[in-house]
Amino acid sequence: MTVVIKGGTIVTADYTYKSDILTQDDKIVAIGKDLEVPSGADVIDAGGCYVMPGGIDPQTHMQLPFMGTNAVDDFYTGTAAMMTGGTTMLIDFVIPEKNTSLLENYHTWRGWAEKAAADYSFHVAVTWWGDGVADDMRSLAKNHGVNSFKHFMAYKGAIMADDEIMVRSFNVAKELGAMVTIHGENGELVAHLQEKLIQQGIKGPEGHPASRPPEVEGEATNRSIRLAEMIGVPIYIVHTSSKDALDAIIAARLRGQVVFSEVLSQHLVIDDSVYRDPDWRTAAHHVMSPPFRPKKHQEALWHGLMSGLCQTTATDHCSFTTEQKLMGKDDFTKIPNGTGGLEDRMSILWHHGVNQGRLTLNQFVACTSANAAKIFNIYPRKGAILVGSDADIIVWDPEKSRTISAQSHYQKVDFNIFEGMEVKGVNIATVSRGKITYLDGDLRAERGVGEYVNRPCFSPYFRQAARLHELKQVQPVHRD
Ligand code: URP
Ligand code: ZN
Repeated sequence: MTVVIKGGTIVTADYTYKSDILTQDDKIVAIGKDLEVPSGADVIDAGGCYVMPGGIDPQTHMQLPFMGTNAVDDFYTGTAAMMTGGTTMLIDFVIPEKNTSLLENYHTWRGWAEKAAADYSFHVAVTWWGDGVADDMRSLAKNHGVNSFKHFMAYKGAIMADDEIMVRSFNVAKELGAMVTIHGENGELVAHLQEKLIQQGIKGPEGHPASRPPEVEGEATNRSIRLAEMIGVPIYIVHTSSKDALDAIIAARLRGQVVFSEVLSQHLVIDDSVYRDPDWRTAAHHVMSPPFRPKKHQEALWHGLMSGLCQTTATDHCSFTTEQKLMGKDDFTKIPNGTGGLEDRMSILWHHGVNQGRLTLNQFVACTSANAAKIFNIYPRKGAILVGSDADIIVWDPEKSRTISAQSHYQKVDFNIFEGMEVKGVNIATVSRGKITYLDGDLRAERGVGEYVNRPCFSPYFRQAARLHELKQVQPVHRD
Protein backbone atom coordinates (compact mmCIF):
# COMPACT_ATOMS: atom_id res chain seq x y z
CA MET A 1 0.00 0.00 0.00
CA THR A 2 1.45 3.35 -1.06
CA VAL A 3 0.09 6.76 -0.16
CA VAL A 4 1.30 10.20 -1.20
CA ILE A 5 0.14 13.25 0.76
CA LYS A 6 0.66 16.21 -1.52
CA GLY A 7 0.80 19.96 -1.18
CA GLY A 8 0.35 20.32 2.57
CA THR A 9 2.28 22.04 5.34
CA ILE A 10 3.88 19.54 7.67
CA VAL A 11 3.66 20.45 11.35
CA THR A 12 5.57 18.52 13.97
CA ALA A 13 6.45 19.39 17.57
CA ASP A 14 9.57 21.12 16.22
CA TYR A 15 9.05 22.29 12.63
CA THR A 16 6.53 23.76 10.22
CA TYR A 17 7.37 23.42 6.51
CA LYS A 18 5.84 22.67 3.14
CA SER A 19 6.52 19.18 1.86
CA ASP A 20 4.98 16.02 0.46
CA ILE A 21 5.06 12.66 2.22
CA LEU A 22 5.34 9.19 0.71
CA THR A 23 4.33 6.18 2.78
CA GLN A 24 4.98 2.57 1.86
CA ASP A 25 3.25 -0.20 3.78
CA ASP A 26 3.18 1.01 7.38
CA LYS A 27 6.08 3.48 7.32
CA ILE A 28 6.97 6.94 6.10
CA VAL A 29 9.60 6.37 3.40
CA ALA A 30 10.17 9.82 1.91
CA ILE A 31 9.55 13.47 2.73
CA GLY A 32 10.30 16.09 0.12
CA LYS A 33 9.00 18.72 -2.23
CA ASP A 34 7.12 17.63 -5.36
CA LEU A 35 7.51 13.90 -4.73
CA GLU A 36 6.68 11.72 -7.70
CA VAL A 37 3.56 9.62 -7.34
CA PRO A 38 4.39 5.90 -7.83
CA SER A 39 1.93 4.05 -10.03
CA GLY A 40 -0.94 2.62 -8.04
CA ALA A 41 -0.43 4.99 -5.11
CA ASP A 42 -3.34 6.70 -3.40
CA VAL A 43 -2.99 10.47 -3.37
CA ILE A 44 -4.38 12.77 -0.69
CA ASP A 45 -4.57 16.41 -1.71
CA ALA A 46 -3.50 18.39 1.37
CA GLY A 47 -3.49 21.83 -0.28
CA GLY A 48 -4.32 24.53 2.30
CA CYS A 49 -4.07 21.96 5.10
CA TYR A 50 -1.68 21.01 7.87
CA VAL A 51 -0.21 17.52 7.84
CA MET A 52 0.57 16.31 11.35
CA PRO A 53 1.39 13.18 13.33
CA GLY A 54 -1.80 11.36 14.31
CA GLY A 55 -2.92 12.10 17.84
CA ILE A 56 -2.03 9.78 20.69
CA ASP A 57 -4.55 9.56 23.52
CA PRO A 58 -2.55 8.29 26.50
CA GLN A 59 -5.56 7.64 28.72
CA THR A 60 -8.65 5.71 27.63
CA HIS A 61 -10.88 2.97 29.03
CA MET A 62 -12.44 0.87 26.28
CA GLN A 63 -15.12 -1.58 27.47
CA LEU A 64 -13.80 -1.20 31.03
CA PRO A 65 -15.68 -3.25 33.65
CA PHE A 66 -16.32 -0.50 36.22
CA MET A 67 -18.80 0.31 38.99
CA GLY A 68 -21.03 -2.63 38.16
CA THR A 69 -21.17 -2.18 34.41
CA ASN A 70 -18.96 -1.95 31.31
CA ALA A 71 -17.91 1.15 29.42
CA VAL A 72 -19.91 1.13 26.20
CA ASP A 73 -17.28 2.06 23.61
CA ASP A 74 -15.15 -0.97 22.90
CA PHE A 75 -11.78 -1.37 21.23
CA TYR A 76 -13.39 -1.33 17.79
CA THR A 77 -15.93 1.49 18.16
CA GLY A 78 -13.47 3.61 20.12
CA THR A 79 -10.52 3.26 17.76
CA ALA A 80 -12.73 3.73 14.70
CA ALA A 81 -14.34 6.86 16.13
CA MET A 82 -11.06 8.37 17.23
CA MET A 83 -9.63 8.14 13.73
CA THR A 84 -12.38 10.38 12.37
CA GLY A 85 -11.20 13.08 14.76
CA GLY A 86 -7.48 12.66 14.06
CA THR A 87 -6.25 10.30 16.78
CA THR A 88 -4.38 7.20 15.59
CA MET A 89 -3.24 5.53 18.79
CA LEU A 90 -4.54 5.08 22.31
CA ILE A 91 -3.00 3.79 25.50
CA ASP A 92 -5.62 1.99 27.54
CA PHE A 93 -5.45 0.41 31.00
CA VAL A 94 -5.47 -3.11 32.29
CA ILE A 95 -7.23 -2.76 35.66
CA PRO A 96 -7.13 -6.01 37.65
CA GLU A 97 -9.65 -6.60 40.41
CA LYS A 98 -7.94 -6.98 43.77
CA ASN A 99 -6.28 -10.36 44.34
CA THR A 100 -6.25 -11.26 40.67
CA SER A 101 -3.16 -11.74 38.55
CA LEU A 102 -1.85 -8.71 36.69
CA LEU A 103 -0.51 -10.94 33.95
CA GLU A 104 -3.76 -12.86 33.44
CA ASN A 105 -5.68 -9.59 33.30
CA TYR A 106 -3.21 -8.26 30.77
CA HIS A 107 -3.93 -11.23 28.51
CA THR A 108 -7.68 -10.74 28.98
CA TRP A 109 -7.41 -7.10 27.88
CA ARG A 110 -5.14 -8.08 24.96
CA GLY A 111 -7.91 -10.43 23.85
CA TRP A 112 -10.54 -7.67 24.04
CA ALA A 113 -8.28 -5.36 22.05
CA GLU A 114 -7.90 -7.75 19.13
CA LYS A 115 -10.81 -5.99 17.45
CA ALA A 116 -9.03 -2.60 17.50
CA ALA A 117 -8.94 -0.70 14.23
CA ALA A 118 -5.87 1.35 15.19
CA ASP A 119 -2.74 0.87 17.26
CA TYR A 120 -2.93 0.61 21.03
CA SER A 121 -0.88 -0.14 24.10
CA PHE A 122 -1.55 -0.77 27.79
CA HIS A 123 -0.63 0.74 31.11
CA VAL A 124 -1.23 -1.85 33.86
CA ALA A 125 -2.79 -0.83 37.19
CA VAL A 126 -1.43 -2.10 40.48
CA THR A 127 -4.57 -2.39 42.58
CA TRP A 128 -3.36 -4.67 45.38
CA TRP A 129 -0.18 -6.14 46.79
CA GLY A 130 0.63 -9.74 47.59
CA ASP A 131 2.28 -12.85 46.23
CA GLY A 132 2.93 -12.68 42.53
CA VAL A 133 2.34 -8.97 41.95
CA ALA A 134 6.02 -8.00 41.74
CA ASP A 135 6.79 -10.99 39.50
CA ASP A 136 3.86 -10.11 37.24
CA MET A 137 5.18 -6.55 36.97
CA ARG A 138 8.59 -7.95 36.04
CA SER A 139 7.13 -10.19 33.38
CA LEU A 140 4.96 -7.39 31.95
CA ALA A 141 7.93 -5.05 31.70
CA LYS A 142 10.43 -7.59 30.37
CA ASN A 143 8.26 -9.70 28.08
CA HIS A 144 5.19 -7.65 27.19
CA GLY A 145 6.27 -4.10 26.44
CA VAL A 146 4.66 -2.48 29.50
CA ASN A 147 6.68 0.48 30.78
CA SER A 148 4.07 2.22 32.96
CA PHE A 149 2.13 1.11 36.03
CA LYS A 150 -0.99 2.94 37.19
CA HIS A 151 -2.15 3.64 40.75
CA PHE A 152 -5.69 4.75 41.55
CA MET A 153 -5.57 6.63 44.83
CA ALA A 154 -9.38 6.82 44.75
CA TYR A 155 -12.21 4.25 44.48
CA LYS A 156 -11.97 2.92 48.05
CA GLY A 157 -13.20 -0.64 48.44
CA ALA A 158 -12.49 -1.40 44.79
CA ILE A 159 -9.24 -0.57 43.03
CA MET A 160 -7.73 2.01 45.38
CA ALA A 161 -3.99 1.83 46.00
CA ASP A 162 -2.92 2.90 49.49
CA ASP A 163 0.54 4.16 50.48
CA GLU A 164 1.88 0.67 51.13
CA ILE A 165 0.83 -0.55 47.69
CA MET A 166 2.33 2.51 46.07
CA VAL A 167 5.64 2.31 47.93
CA ARG A 168 6.05 -1.35 47.05
CA SER A 169 4.95 -0.92 43.46
CA PHE A 170 7.07 2.23 42.89
CA ASN A 171 10.11 0.29 44.11
CA VAL A 172 9.49 -2.49 41.62
CA ALA A 173 8.88 0.05 38.84
CA LYS A 174 12.21 1.61 39.74
CA GLU A 175 13.94 -1.76 39.45
CA LEU A 176 12.31 -2.32 36.04
CA GLY A 177 12.94 1.09 34.48
CA ALA A 178 9.21 1.89 34.32
CA MET A 179 7.12 5.04 34.85
CA VAL A 180 4.50 5.21 37.60
CA THR A 181 1.21 6.90 36.82
CA ILE A 182 -1.35 8.27 39.24
CA HIS A 183 -5.03 9.01 39.57
CA GLY A 184 -4.60 11.58 42.32
CA GLU A 185 -7.59 11.78 44.63
CA ASN A 186 -7.59 10.86 48.32
CA GLY A 187 -10.01 7.91 48.29
CA GLU A 188 -10.43 7.89 52.06
CA LEU A 189 -11.59 11.50 52.07
CA VAL A 190 -13.85 10.94 49.07
CA ALA A 191 -15.56 8.04 50.88
CA HIS A 192 -15.96 10.15 54.00
CA LEU A 193 -17.43 13.11 52.11
CA GLN A 194 -19.75 10.88 50.08
CA GLU A 195 -21.17 9.35 53.26
CA LYS A 196 -21.65 12.77 54.82
CA LEU A 197 -23.40 14.19 51.75
CA ILE A 198 -25.75 11.22 51.44
CA GLN A 199 -26.61 11.56 55.15
CA GLN A 200 -27.42 15.22 54.52
CA GLY A 201 -29.85 14.10 51.82
CA ILE A 202 -27.73 15.27 48.88
CA LYS A 203 -28.26 12.39 46.47
CA GLY A 204 -28.13 14.05 43.04
CA PRO A 205 -25.10 14.62 40.77
CA GLU A 206 -24.38 17.93 42.55
CA GLY A 207 -23.01 15.75 45.37
CA HIS A 208 -20.29 14.40 43.07
CA PRO A 209 -18.03 17.50 42.90
CA ALA A 210 -18.78 18.26 46.55
CA SER A 211 -17.37 14.85 47.50
CA ARG A 212 -14.20 15.36 45.45
CA PRO A 213 -13.11 18.97 45.96
CA PRO A 214 -9.78 20.24 44.60
CA GLU A 215 -8.11 19.82 48.02
CA VAL A 216 -8.70 16.06 47.78
CA GLU A 217 -6.87 16.03 44.45
CA GLY A 218 -4.10 18.35 45.63
CA GLU A 219 -3.33 16.24 48.69
CA ALA A 220 -3.15 12.92 46.85
CA THR A 221 -1.20 14.30 43.93
CA ASN A 222 1.35 15.83 46.25
CA ARG A 223 1.64 12.64 48.30
CA SER A 224 2.22 10.45 45.26
CA ILE A 225 4.84 12.87 43.94
CA ARG A 226 6.66 12.82 47.26
CA LEU A 227 6.63 9.02 47.32
CA ALA A 228 8.08 8.93 43.80
CA GLU A 229 10.70 11.49 44.82
CA MET A 230 11.88 9.33 47.72
CA ILE A 231 12.07 6.25 45.52
CA GLY A 232 13.59 7.99 42.51
CA VAL A 233 11.09 6.94 39.86
CA PRO A 234 9.53 9.25 37.24
CA ILE A 235 5.84 9.94 37.80
CA TYR A 236 3.00 10.88 35.46
CA ILE A 237 -0.18 12.43 36.86
CA VAL A 238 -3.23 11.57 34.77
CA HIS A 239 -6.19 13.94 34.37
CA THR A 240 -4.81 16.89 36.35
CA SER A 241 -7.98 18.92 36.88
CA SER A 242 -7.26 21.53 39.54
CA LYS A 243 -4.88 24.29 40.40
CA ASP A 244 -4.28 22.46 43.68
CA ALA A 245 -2.83 19.45 41.85
CA LEU A 246 -0.99 21.68 39.41
CA ASP A 247 0.67 23.55 42.27
CA ALA A 248 2.07 20.27 43.61
CA ILE A 249 3.31 19.34 40.13
CA ILE A 250 4.93 22.72 39.53
CA ALA A 251 6.62 22.73 42.94
CA ALA A 252 8.08 19.29 42.23
CA ARG A 253 9.30 20.27 38.77
CA LEU A 254 10.96 23.33 40.27
CA ARG A 255 12.63 21.07 42.84
CA GLY A 256 14.14 19.20 39.91
CA GLN A 257 11.89 16.14 40.05
CA VAL A 258 10.87 14.25 36.91
CA VAL A 259 7.08 14.73 37.01
CA PHE A 260 4.67 14.82 34.08
CA SER A 261 1.13 16.10 33.98
CA GLU A 262 -1.74 15.24 31.65
CA VAL A 263 -4.82 17.38 31.11
CA LEU A 264 -8.15 16.22 29.67
CA SER A 265 -9.77 18.10 26.80
CA GLN A 266 -13.02 18.01 28.80
CA HIS A 267 -11.55 19.71 31.89
CA LEU A 268 -10.17 22.50 29.69
CA VAL A 269 -13.55 23.65 28.42
CA ILE A 270 -16.30 22.46 30.77
CA ASP A 271 -16.87 23.81 34.28
CA ASP A 272 -18.73 22.57 37.33
CA SER A 273 -22.00 24.38 36.53
CA VAL A 274 -22.98 21.21 34.63
CA TYR A 275 -23.76 19.45 37.90
CA ARG A 276 -26.58 21.91 38.59
CA ASP A 277 -28.26 21.27 35.25
CA PRO A 278 -32.02 20.89 35.86
CA ASP A 279 -31.97 17.76 33.68
CA TRP A 280 -30.67 14.91 35.87
CA ARG A 281 -29.41 13.02 32.81
CA THR A 282 -27.26 15.88 31.60
CA ALA A 283 -25.77 16.36 35.06
CA ALA A 284 -25.18 12.62 35.45
CA HIS A 285 -23.44 12.37 32.09
CA HIS A 286 -20.81 14.74 33.49
CA VAL A 287 -20.08 12.57 36.51
CA MET A 288 -16.43 11.70 36.10
CA SER A 289 -13.48 11.78 38.44
CA PRO A 290 -11.89 14.14 39.10
CA PRO A 291 -15.01 16.23 38.48
CA PHE A 292 -15.39 19.40 36.46
CA ARG A 293 -14.09 22.42 38.35
CA PRO A 294 -14.89 26.10 38.76
CA LYS A 295 -13.60 28.17 35.83
CA LYS A 296 -10.44 29.47 37.51
CA HIS A 297 -9.00 25.94 37.40
CA GLN A 298 -9.53 25.75 33.62
CA GLU A 299 -7.41 28.82 33.05
CA ALA A 300 -4.66 27.34 35.25
CA LEU A 301 -4.71 24.14 33.16
CA TRP A 302 -4.40 26.12 29.93
CA HIS A 303 -1.48 28.02 31.41
CA GLY A 304 0.07 24.70 32.39
CA LEU A 305 -0.14 23.49 28.80
CA MET A 306 1.07 26.78 27.33
CA SER A 307 4.10 26.86 29.61
CA GLY A 308 4.99 23.20 29.16
CA LEU A 309 4.38 22.46 32.85
CA CYS A 310 1.64 20.11 31.60
CA GLN A 311 2.86 18.02 28.69
CA THR A 312 0.03 15.88 27.36
CA THR A 313 -3.68 15.89 26.68
CA ALA A 314 -5.97 12.88 26.92
CA THR A 315 -9.66 12.10 27.24
CA ASP A 316 -9.89 9.32 29.83
CA HIS A 317 -12.64 8.17 27.45
CA CYS A 318 -14.83 5.93 29.61
CA SER A 319 -18.30 6.23 28.19
CA PHE A 320 -21.59 5.14 29.71
CA THR A 321 -25.05 5.38 28.21
CA THR A 322 -27.96 7.20 29.85
CA GLU A 323 -29.35 3.85 30.92
CA GLN A 324 -26.08 3.02 32.66
CA LYS A 325 -25.90 6.42 34.33
CA LEU A 326 -29.40 5.75 35.71
CA MET A 327 -27.84 3.16 38.03
CA GLY A 328 -27.22 6.14 40.30
CA LYS A 329 -30.62 7.85 39.96
CA ASP A 330 -31.13 7.91 43.73
CA ASP A 331 -27.51 8.00 44.84
CA PHE A 332 -24.80 9.94 43.04
CA THR A 333 -22.08 7.61 44.39
CA LYS A 334 -23.53 4.84 42.18
CA ILE A 335 -23.43 6.77 38.91
CA PRO A 336 -20.72 5.09 36.80
CA ASN A 337 -17.86 7.57 36.60
CA GLY A 338 -16.67 8.57 33.17
CA THR A 339 -17.25 10.64 30.04
CA GLY A 340 -16.41 10.34 26.36
CA GLY A 341 -14.21 12.62 24.30
CA LEU A 342 -11.89 10.43 22.22
CA GLU A 343 -13.30 11.59 18.91
CA ASP A 344 -13.25 15.30 19.69
CA ARG A 345 -10.04 15.96 21.67
CA MET A 346 -8.05 17.19 18.67
CA SER A 347 -10.71 19.66 17.54
CA ILE A 348 -11.20 20.92 21.10
CA LEU A 349 -7.46 21.54 21.50
CA TRP A 350 -7.26 23.20 18.11
CA HIS A 351 -10.32 25.40 18.43
CA HIS A 352 -9.83 26.50 22.04
CA GLY A 353 -6.04 26.24 21.98
CA VAL A 354 -4.61 27.21 18.59
CA ASN A 355 -7.48 29.45 17.44
CA GLN A 356 -7.49 31.32 20.76
CA GLY A 357 -3.73 31.93 20.57
CA ARG A 358 -3.03 29.71 23.57
CA LEU A 359 -1.07 27.09 21.64
CA THR A 360 1.29 27.41 18.70
CA LEU A 361 0.95 24.86 15.91
CA ASN A 362 4.01 23.03 17.22
CA GLN A 363 2.72 23.07 20.79
CA PHE A 364 -0.52 21.58 19.50
CA VAL A 365 1.38 18.61 18.07
CA ALA A 366 3.54 18.35 21.19
CA CYS A 367 0.60 18.14 23.56
CA THR A 368 -1.67 15.96 21.41
CA SER A 369 0.93 13.48 20.21
CA ALA A 370 4.71 13.93 20.41
CA ASN A 371 5.04 14.41 24.17
CA ALA A 372 3.01 11.29 24.95
CA ALA A 373 5.25 9.34 22.56
CA LYS A 374 8.37 10.69 24.26
CA ILE A 375 7.17 10.14 27.82
CA PHE A 376 6.02 6.59 27.10
CA ASN A 377 9.14 5.84 25.04
CA ILE A 378 7.75 5.18 21.59
CA TYR A 379 9.16 8.31 19.94
CA PRO A 380 9.93 8.77 17.04
CA ARG A 381 8.14 5.63 15.92
CA LYS A 382 4.97 7.49 16.95
CA GLY A 383 4.38 11.22 17.40
CA ALA A 384 6.73 12.24 14.60
CA ILE A 385 6.86 12.75 10.86
CA LEU A 386 10.24 11.37 9.93
CA VAL A 387 11.47 8.81 7.45
CA GLY A 388 11.13 5.51 9.33
CA SER A 389 8.30 6.65 11.62
CA ASP A 390 5.00 4.78 11.52
CA ALA A 391 2.73 6.22 8.85
CA ASP A 392 0.17 7.61 11.34
CA ILE A 393 -0.66 10.93 9.74
CA ILE A 394 -3.59 13.32 9.70
CA VAL A 395 -4.57 16.08 7.31
CA TRP A 396 -6.08 19.03 9.10
CA ASP A 397 -8.23 21.71 7.48
CA PRO A 398 -7.93 24.83 9.67
CA GLU A 399 -10.77 26.59 7.81
CA LYS A 400 -13.37 23.87 8.07
CA SER A 401 -15.90 23.91 10.92
CA ARG A 402 -18.20 21.32 12.42
CA THR A 403 -20.74 21.18 15.20
CA ILE A 404 -20.16 18.41 17.71
CA SER A 405 -23.20 16.27 18.41
CA ALA A 406 -24.16 12.81 19.61
CA GLN A 407 -26.45 12.70 16.55
CA SER A 408 -23.48 12.70 14.20
CA HIS A 409 -20.56 11.36 16.23
CA TYR A 410 -19.12 7.91 15.54
CA GLN A 411 -18.72 6.92 19.19
CA LYS A 412 -21.22 4.36 20.43
CA VAL A 413 -22.23 6.30 23.53
CA ASP A 414 -25.56 8.16 23.27
CA PHE A 415 -24.36 11.47 24.72
CA ASN A 416 -21.66 13.95 23.83
CA ILE A 417 -20.52 16.31 26.55
CA PHE A 418 -19.42 18.84 23.90
CA GLU A 419 -22.92 18.78 22.36
CA GLY A 420 -23.64 21.83 20.21
CA MET A 421 -20.10 23.21 20.33
CA GLU A 422 -18.97 24.59 16.99
CA VAL A 423 -15.27 23.98 16.38
CA LYS A 424 -13.18 25.41 13.57
CA GLY A 425 -10.33 23.12 12.56
CA VAL A 426 -11.29 19.65 11.39
CA ASN A 427 -9.47 16.43 10.51
CA ILE A 428 -10.22 15.57 6.87
CA ALA A 429 -8.01 12.52 6.35
CA THR A 430 -6.39 9.90 8.53
CA VAL A 431 -3.64 7.51 7.55
CA SER A 432 -3.14 4.77 10.10
CA ARG A 433 0.01 2.70 9.65
CA GLY A 434 -0.03 3.46 5.95
CA LYS A 435 -3.74 2.88 5.23
CA ILE A 436 -6.26 5.61 4.57
CA THR A 437 -8.82 4.94 7.28
CA TYR A 438 -10.81 8.15 7.04
CA LEU A 439 -11.28 10.54 4.12
CA ASP A 440 -13.73 13.41 3.84
CA GLY A 441 -16.42 11.87 6.02
CA ASP A 442 -15.85 8.34 4.79
CA LEU A 443 -14.76 6.08 7.67
CA ARG A 444 -12.88 3.04 6.38
CA ALA A 445 -11.86 1.52 9.71
CA GLU A 446 -11.19 -2.20 9.64
CA ARG A 447 -11.87 -4.33 12.66
CA GLY A 448 -8.77 -6.07 13.99
CA VAL A 449 -6.03 -4.36 12.01
CA GLY A 450 -4.76 -2.32 14.96
CA GLU A 451 -1.56 -3.61 16.50
CA TYR A 452 -0.26 -3.73 20.04
CA VAL A 453 2.64 -1.33 20.53
CA ASN A 454 5.45 -2.50 22.81
CA ARG A 455 6.91 0.28 24.94
CA PRO A 456 10.44 -0.38 26.14
CA CYS A 457 11.56 0.42 29.69
CA PHE A 458 14.47 2.66 30.69
CA SER A 459 13.29 5.70 28.75
CA PRO A 460 15.53 8.79 28.79
CA TYR A 461 13.20 10.30 31.41
CA PHE A 462 13.50 7.20 33.56
CA ARG A 463 17.28 7.41 33.40
CA GLN A 464 17.15 11.11 34.26
CA ALA A 465 15.04 10.47 37.37
CA ALA A 466 17.20 7.54 38.46
CA ARG A 467 20.45 9.46 38.04
CA LEU A 468 19.17 12.51 39.91
CA HIS A 469 18.06 10.26 42.73
CA GLU A 470 21.35 8.40 42.80
CA LEU A 471 23.27 11.66 43.14
CA LYS A 472 21.21 12.56 46.20
CA GLN A 473 21.87 9.34 48.07
CA VAL A 474 23.95 9.33 51.20
CA GLN A 475 27.43 7.97 50.61
CA PRO A 476 29.01 5.79 53.27
CA VAL A 477 31.83 7.36 55.26
CA HIS A 478 34.89 5.13 55.14
CA ARG A 479 36.54 5.38 58.53
CA ASP A 480 39.77 3.70 59.69
O1 URP B 1 -14.37 9.06 35.96
C1 URP B 1 -13.45 8.48 35.40
N1 URP B 1 -12.34 9.16 35.19
N2 URP B 1 -13.59 7.20 35.02
C2 URP B 1 -12.61 6.35 34.49
C3 URP B 1 -11.71 5.78 35.55
C4 URP B 1 -10.71 6.79 36.00
O2 URP B 1 -10.78 7.27 37.11
O3 URP B 1 -9.82 7.14 35.26
ZN1 ZN C 1 -8.81 8.26 36.85
